[in-house]
Parts: sequence; structure tokens; C-alpha cells
Amino acid sequence: MSKFWSPVVHELTPYIPGEQPKLVNLVKLNTNENPYGPGPRVLAALQAEVSDTLRLYPDPNSDRLKQTIAESFGLAPSNVFVGNGSDEVLAHAFHALLQHDQPILFPDITYSFYPVYCGLYGIPFETLPLTSTFQIDVADYRRANGGIIFPNPNAPTGMALPLSNIEYLLQINTDSVVVVDEAYIDFGGESAAPLVDTYPNLLVVHTLSKSRSLAGLRAGYALGHADLIEALTRVKDSFNSYPLDRFAQAGAVAAMLDQSHFEETCRKVISSRNWLVAELGKLGFDTLPSVANFIFTRHQNRDGAELTTRLRERSIIVRHFKNPARIAPYLRITIGTNEQCAALVSALREILS
Ligand SMILES: Cc1ncc(COP(=O)(O)O)c(C=O)c1O
Repeated sequence: MSKFWSPVVHELTPYIPGEQPKLVNLVKLNTNENPYGPGPRVLAALQAEVSDTLRLYPDPNSDRLKQTIAESFGLAPSNVFVGNGSDEVLAHAFHALLQHDQPILFPDITYSFYPVYCGLYGIPFETLPLTSTFQIDVADYRRANGGIIFPNPNAPTGMALPLSNIEYLLQINTDSVVVVDEAYIDFGGESAAPLVDTYPNLLVVHTLSKSRSLAGLRAGYALGHADLIEALTRVKDSFNSYPLDRFAQAGAVAAMLDQSHFEETCRKVISSRNWLVAELGKLGFDTLPSVANFIFTRHQNRDGAELTTRLRERSIIVRHFKNPARIAPYLRITIGTNEQCAALVSALREILS
């Protein structure tokens, strides 16, 4: 606390990201990064940027990246916005498109950054409870609102919402923006990107941090009607003209073009996920049906916090959320390599024996 703080700062409850421990030799399964690094094409593109041109500012509009993303979705560059990680894209969406008098709506169990943005921008919000089986019931969203946002698949459950339900939601909600945060869509979900042409109030947000193995580079993007993209661009150009540096733009372009590396790593993550869920089942865990690169799982008679501590003692880090109470028994576990998943299973077997 300080008398020098602006009033809004006193009221902020910042987001707490998952730990990035400085220790080596950890099995790090806590922040949903890709266990496989970026491919050689991305590394070569980054190396090519290590040059004298670093004295020059990067392209403020990231035109080449927008063009590459637009082509991969059959859209125009005017339908694409890029930012410094999808968190920044989301922040601009809250500011540019969700800040109205009516409360915005999102699930009670979801990405915990959403209420933080509401606090930062003074946006009223209402949370709508997931069903007893942790599903989003889109019929609940049929009420006056200043906008709707949810991840698909949801975080931290990993559960998918079928595209037909998203389309129904767009049909019953035409007067405010619906943001679908598809951070984990490439691991088995059905993207709403093809609906962008049909629904002028749909914004689909993607990241290169998960399926494109570039959490360290910070690049994310949004797809939507050109009017929505213009709103985001106005906010961006009132905040930071160069959110993506030369490395981020070059690496992101290469990653978007490297389809085979992307498909191969997603396939490996999905196969490890299937193996891990089956093995955890044998140890007495119930796992929600995940289409993400993480799972949400609880043991039938062991406490989530305790298991997290026991795993940490064995240098395995997973994520545990104390609140709300309904999810306290669960562990959120990022899908690692086969070796990391096997290490997790043997540690749990030992802990439970
Ligand atoms: C649901 C969801 N959306 C967005 C993000 C932000 O990803 P990034 O800022 O790395 O693009 C995350 C990160 O974990 C997430 O879980």
C-alpha cells in the first residue's frame, strides 16, 4: 500500500500464474506448456532475427503474421488481431468489447484471469455455475449481458463444448460479443473459427503457447469480424504499438507454417493423455473427459492438496486450486512426455501404497 498508488491499484487482485521454478530436473506439469519444443523451422527463423536489424522497431502491425494466420483459416488479414500472448489479446477484448453497463457472463469454474481483467477495467460480471458434471449449460446464458466469455475446452476441467452449442449460444445472443477462448482447442476440440464469417459478434482467441510450443515467445491472436478487430487494434494502438517484437513475429510465422511439427506434437500429447487417464484409473482416480493438453483428476479417497505436496517432494509439480470448494479435491496435470507421465504414475503409485 502506498499513498502514491492510483485508486484502482488498491482494489486489484492480480492473477497468480503457475510457478516457474528455478530448480532443474523437475517434472513440470503445472502450467500446460507443450512438453515438446518448437521445430527446427521455428528455431532457424528465430536465429535469422539475431542481426543488426534489431536496432529497428518491428512491424507495428505484424502484417506478415496476420497474413499467415488469415490464410491458415481462410480469412482476411482484417479478421485477425495479434498480441503478446493470448492473455494480452484477452485483456484488449475485455477493454474494447466487454466493458459495458450490463454484467458480462462466464462460468463459475473457468480461467481465473477473467475476473482479474474485470477488476482492472471495472467490468461488472456474473458467474454461472457449471452443471454437476462440470459442463457449461448454454441455455443459462440466455439473459441480458454485456458480453459472454468462456474457454473451449474449459480450463481447468479440459472439457469441450460442442460447436452446435456454441452456435446455439450465438443465435440466442446477438446483441453482445461472445468470446471463445480456444487456448487448448488443437488437442481435440472443435474450433468455432469457421463461424467467424457468419456471426459478427463472435471473437475466437488462440495462443501459440500450447499446441505451437511457444509459451516463451509470447504470441496469441484473435479471429473475428473486421469491426471487432478494429476495436482491438484501437486499444492496442493506445497502449503499445509494438507488442510483438521481431523474434515473436518471425517465430510465430514459422510456427503457423510448420503444420507437420504441429500435428505430430499434438498427436503425441493426445496419445500420452489417453495412456495417463487409463493408468490413473487403475490407481483409483476419476478424470474428467479432457480434450486439452491437461487433465483434471481426483482420487477417490485422497485429498488434492496432500497429493500435490507429496508429488512436489518427489520433484513433480502439478497445479491445485483451493477454490471453489467443488474443485479442491482435483489436481490439474499437464500432459508431459511419455517419460514424464510414467514418472508421475510411479510416484503416485508409491504415494498411494
Ligand atoms: C484458458 C486460457 N486462456 C489463455 C491463456 C493464456 O495463454 P498465453 O497468454 O500464453 O497465450 C491460458 C494460459 O494458460 C489459458 O489457460
